[in-house]
Amino acid sequence: MLQKPVYMDNHATTRVDPRVVEAMLPFFTETYGNAGSISHCFGWEAQDAVDAARTSIAGAIGATAKEIVFTSGATESNNLALRGLADRPRRGKHLVTVCTEHKAILDPAKRLARRGFEVTYLHVAPQTAANAGVIDLQELADSLRPDTLLVSVMLANNEIGVLQPLAEIGALCRSHGVLLHTDATQAVGKIPVDAAALQVDLMSFSAHKMYGPKGVGALYVRRGSPRVRLEPLQDGGGQEGGRRSGTLNTPGIVGFAKALELCREEGADEQRRLQTMRDRLATALSDQIPNVCVNGPPLASPELRLAGNLSCCFENVDGEALMMSMRNLAVSSGSACTSTNPEPSHVLRALGLSDEQTRASLRFGLGRFNTEEEVDFAIETVKDAVTRLRAMGGVDG
Ligand SMILES: Cc1ncc(COP(=O)(O)O)c(C=O)c1O
Repeated sequence: MLQKPVYMDNHATTRVDPRVVEAMLPFFTETYGNAGSISHCFGWEAQDAVDAARTSIAGAIGATAKEIVFTSGATESNNLALRGLADRPRRGKHLVTVCTEHKAILDPAKRLARRGFEVTYLHVAPQTAANAGVIDLQELADSLRPDTLLVSVMLANNEIGVLQPLAEIGALCRSHGVLLHTDATQAVGKIPVDAAALQVDLMSFSAHKMYGPKGVGALYVRRGSPRVRLEPLQDGGGQEGGRRSGTLNTPGIVGFAKALELCREEGADEQRRLQTMRDRLATALSDQIPNVCVNGPPLASPELRLAGNLSCCFENVDGEALMMSMRNLAVSSGSACTSTNPEPSHVLRALGLSDEQTRASLRFGLGRFNTEEEVDFAIETVKDAVTRLRAMGGVDG
């Protein structure tokens, strides 16, 4: 029996898996000590749980426990990476990033620009290209300067699901001696991510995108040489090696580790299931509704795109009006994280879409709890709503 409303906005956030909730529960009511309390067993037990979670999360991303700094989410991790690095007296004041990054990178970069940093924004291939949304490695190589402090390139995009060639970017940055940060928030838990193999120095990710709790994330900070030194954003009890003061969110951290463990167990099978459902949704929408196009790289190029992501443009329809007319289907127009911002999506604009096409676009994010029946419901709902809105606007089809 189909339960309404149907949730298809899994890039914005995900439902916490009941197995994650179960793992977290004892840490609210029984093992509730402060992991920083070193003088009694309540604290030791919490510390043991945090240590186990840290080791598990590190292992899942090709890191060691000491390379994980727990934060409140990827926004904080991104800020800590960019601002924490910039606040250290270093050799350069030049940053390189991409025009399609999340606001949690673009806004800290803007803040640094106001402080005298120079920021280079890399372009991405246009919608007409077979690798729409991907950066040009030559443009990246050309942008590097002796005073480049950091390159920050996201692994998977939250709107169009495009995957950047991070291993190549890592190799390029390493060969130029430039530090590399990646916002891997939409990638970790979905595709295999190995920080060491990718040669990244800093990497952000977040529990609530992988069926874990909100309000907990991590920043991977590579150890070894050359040392990546960060200035903390906040001072206090000196937790996380002084890089992130504040009492650790023990239940959240335990849930984070459990969530990532479950994603790894489900692995490629779950991604295949999502891709099959996503492709069926895309095919039905394009076949049954006139003038629909897919935004971002081709769905037939899985190496360039997240399996559960679909961004579509419904020509001559206002995406906002479309969403509002589908009360029983939760999708997103543009990035949900910035949905208070009425500006057309900067990601779709970067692909060369017009303001009208950008406004006519919807993002579907399929996830673990979506079913085939829900996909059928989404197809019918979108078809009805687009037809109705186009008829109201005097547009055929
Ligand atoms: C790519 C990307 N980076 C950062 C964030 C912010 O993450 P958080 O909500 O954990 O702060 C998001 C959230 O949508 C995201 O998609």
